[in-house]
Amino acid sequence: MADKPTMTTSAGAPVSDNQNSVTAGERGPVLLQDYQLIEKLAHQNRERIPERVVHAKGWGAHGVLKITGDISKYTIAKALQPGAETPMLARFSTVAGEAGAADAERDVRGFALKFYTEDGNWDLVGNNTPVFFVRDALKFPDFIHTQKRHPRTNLRSPTAMWDFWSLSPESLHQVTILMSDRGLPVAPMYMNGYGSHTYSLWNDKGERFWVKFHFKTMQGHKHYTNAEAEEVVGKTRESYQEALFGTIERGEFPKWKVQVQIMPEADAEKTEYNPFDLTKVWPHADYPPIDIGVMELNRNPDNYFTEIENAAFSPSNIVPGISYSPDKMLQARIFSYADAHRYRLGTHYETIPVNQPKCPVHHYHRDGEMNTFGGIKTGNPDAFYEPNSFGGPVESPSVKEPPLRISGDADRYNHRIGNDDYGQPRALFNLFDEGEKNRLFSNIAAAMGGVPGEIIERQLAHFDKVHPDYGNGVRKALKEAHGYEANAVPVTGKTPQHAAE
Ligand code: NDP
Ligand code: HEM
Repeated sequence: MADKPTMTTSAGAPVSDNQNSVTAGERGPVLLQDYQLIEKLAHQNRERIPERVVHAKGWGAHGVLKITGDISKYTIAKALQPGAETPMLARFSTVAGEAGAADAERDVRGFALKFYTEDGNWDLVGNNTPVFFVRDALKFPDFIHTQKRHPRTNLRSPTAMWDFWSLSPESLHQVTILMSDRGLPVAPMYMNGYGSHTYSLWNDKGERFWVKFHFKTMQGHKHYTNAEAEEVVGKTRESYQEALFGTIERGEFPKWKVQVQIMPEADAEKTEYNPFDLTKVWPHADYPPIDIGVMELNRNPDNYFTEIENAAFSPSNIVPGISYSPDKMLQARIFSYADAHRYRLGTHYETIPVNQPKCPVHHYHRDGEMNTFGGIKTGNPDAFYEPNSFGGPVESPSVKEPPLRISGDADRYNHRIGNDDYGQPRALFNLFDEGEKNRLFSNIAAAMGGVPGEIIERQLAHFDKVHPDYGNGVRKALKEAHGYEANAVPVTGKTPQHAAE
């Protein structure tokens, strides 16, 4: 006993008995004065924080970004200079499932990275896909509603998903990736990550370049078929956690080759596609990927809650030399994440150790929930406003980014006009071999079970526009899976909410 520390209350007083509550008599009721009992129950009631509204189920680890290439002519970012080594945190996730969802489910995977640079935290909050389902943030809450549970049945609704997708042709590119082999990776190590959005880099001459970030798995791509995944989920719901934690624990550190595509600023006016449209990639032939380094994950968190659940990633976190682009989706995300963190974690969420920058922090934010940094972050108690005469921190014009050139009238521009939603999905479809195409068709047919015929027909018309083989392949798979005949209404049975109507 002597070598064990004495248990205390959270106020530091020694606890005499952690087995028996205080009762009136041996069989009697519990006394309110048993504060330690009340404290334990009250703490238990507060152990959960709100789960992320999307990407609730996740797996994460610490690591390092090592830069070996030289892109110093494009950016002053210290973390991107040749030889730089920057500690970082990664969190991978599925999008739609709740915190307890099974890991091996078909879904897009989040690929969120926080780099603790000398100039503050730089976050790249991407996915394992280079594109997204929508290109205007006004549609993001609607899209997410179709992925989450139906308000009445409390079940996922394939009808809602395909209704939305078939009415939003910009989703075709991402839907094709989601339903292809890469829509169900075996574990986080076996998938690529993409910054997805166009960001910008700027250099010491004040020049801006558009940039896309890619993280290519060095473990090789590995995927499950639907049937394999069902078997895995039948055995373990935590296959990703087991794989990621296990590989790092064994010292087999997963790595990703880091690449950038760079576009000169003026090219954005010239490309056939809008380079700020999140439903499009930049073809490699036009903008070849440049190798710049390697990202390695090499340390498991000691505590999942404090280091992964509490992690706050935000596309708003940029550092000198790296900036945003006009991408409408990115612009909305710059607002949304910090807002989510204030709600989910609290006002001063950046004081949680995993979110703290590993460089000096000086700001004039003050009191409020979670102010654990002691007074103010200016270094002088009299310097609590700015400007001041007490040596408080001041701005640094040396890190001012070059002006962002924009033009045009403020208006609501119809993003479905003049945008080719079929060309890039076609380029992807043409990359697939016969086996991949057949699995794409059968995955789509499986996901369409119970969807009304008019919605299926609307979606098939989009597949036809990508490639006649695409539409026809899905038609054949629908017949095999559900006995569906073209234009017949509906497929097998009805989705729960339709059955209820
Ligand atoms: P490329 O042939 O030069 O590049 C193909 C890219 O597609 C590679 O990054 C490759 O990733 C990826 N890829 C290969 N097979 C698959 C697959 N089965 N599922 C998903 N991605 C795959 O062609 P383009 O640059 O002209 O692009 C053609 C299409 O490839 C695009 O329309 C897009 O759908 C897809 N793609 C393009 C990317 C880009 O940034 N240009 C990025 C990712 C996908 P890897 O090297 O890891 O195999
Ligand atoms: C998580 C909003 C689009 C990737 C989140 C969260 C919100 C959100 C509120 C929860 C954050 C938290 O509680 O910590 C949005 C909005 C979008 C959008 C409003 C569109 C306008 C995207 C896109 C990507 C993406 C396009 C990828 C390219 C992620 C990832 C996470 C996440 C990876 C989980 C981060 C983590 O691991 O903590 N999103 N999102 N999101 N989002 Fe988005």
